[in-house]
Amino acid sequence: MPLAGSVLTERQPVMTGRHDPAAPGEHTGWAFGHSARIAQAPLVPRRQSGEAIAELDGQIWAPVAVQPNIVEQLRKESAMSKPVLAIVIGSTRPGRVGPKFATWFRSRAIDHGGFDVELVDLATLKLPFLDEPSHPRMHQYIHQHTIDWGHTVERSDAFVFVTPEYNFGYSAVLKNAIDYLSQEWADKAVGFLSYGGVAAGTRAVQQLKQVVTALKMVPVAESVNIPFFTQFIDDSGTVRPNDAMTRSADAMLDELARVTALIRPKTPVASEPEVLVGRPD
Ligand SMILES: Cc1cc2nc3c(=O)[nH]c(=O)nc-3n(C[C@H](O)[C@H](O)[C@H](O)COP(=O)(O)O)c2cc1C
Repeated sequence: MPLAGSVLTERQPVMTGRHDPAAPGEHTGWAFGHSARIAQAPLVPRRQSGEAIAELDGQIWAPVAVQPNIVEQLRKESAMSKPVLAIVIGSTRPGRVGPKFATWFRSRAIDHGGFDVELVDLATLKLPFLDEPSHPRMHQYIHQHTIDWGHTVERSDAFVFVTPEYNFGYSAVLKNAIDYLSQEWADKAVGFLSYGGVAAGTRAVQQLKQVVTALKMVPVAESVNIPFFTQFIDDSGTVRPNDAMTRSADAMLDELARVTALIRPKTPVASEPEVLVGRPD
């Protein structure tokens, strides 16, 4: 299995280099950049030479000649990278509006600039109802879908849950996704974007706040609550925000960044990145 480390998220550089097994002093393999760390895969390159990038398991990889100065450069870039904000879409039904608001918020978050931003769609994840035999605290996952979901949450430093309001509460699918994991959520800030009718999804948010504290997450007070949400979606399905929406989105992002810096002063991005070097067999 050629993967080491986490996936590339957007706006992160793909390191490129030239593979030259004959060059002395070079450690050559396949590497990729990630905000949390720089890692090199076990040396199972698809192509032994050239600069063409490769796609493995849906991730973009590039051959890189890992020389000492490049290692140093990778370390510096990693130390400078931003915390990862995962925006989780909490509805999965056909015709849902969740992705529209999540996509709008994502572009706001990218413009904000304080995070590397990742969109997580529970509809794509397709987690079954919790099917792990052990309590998540034990971290003894037997299913690949749990391990994958755990990696996604683990590499994230902060979250925004995009939640509908269903019968004065939040969605079952979001509760299920939360319950799958434990330590992966801990000591991370979380904000909420809710939408609905007269209550703007705030009843769902109040319930969520109670649940996330059981996981040692830190909910921020600032939130985006969208009442009678259809008024903010035009005929083409695009979100047309008003001032209150954009201001509350920016305020929540500011607060998430502030709290993340406080509770995760040594996030993985700030720690010494792992750089493994080796030679292809
Ligand atoms: C099962 C169900 C229950 C709902 N209950 C509420 C509710 O309690 N409060 C509310 O404001 N809207 C409620 N709605 C309307 C939702 O706000 C609206 O359908 C919204 O589009 C749901 O989000 P989604 O499209 O991302 O699934 C409910 C919708 C469904 C499907």
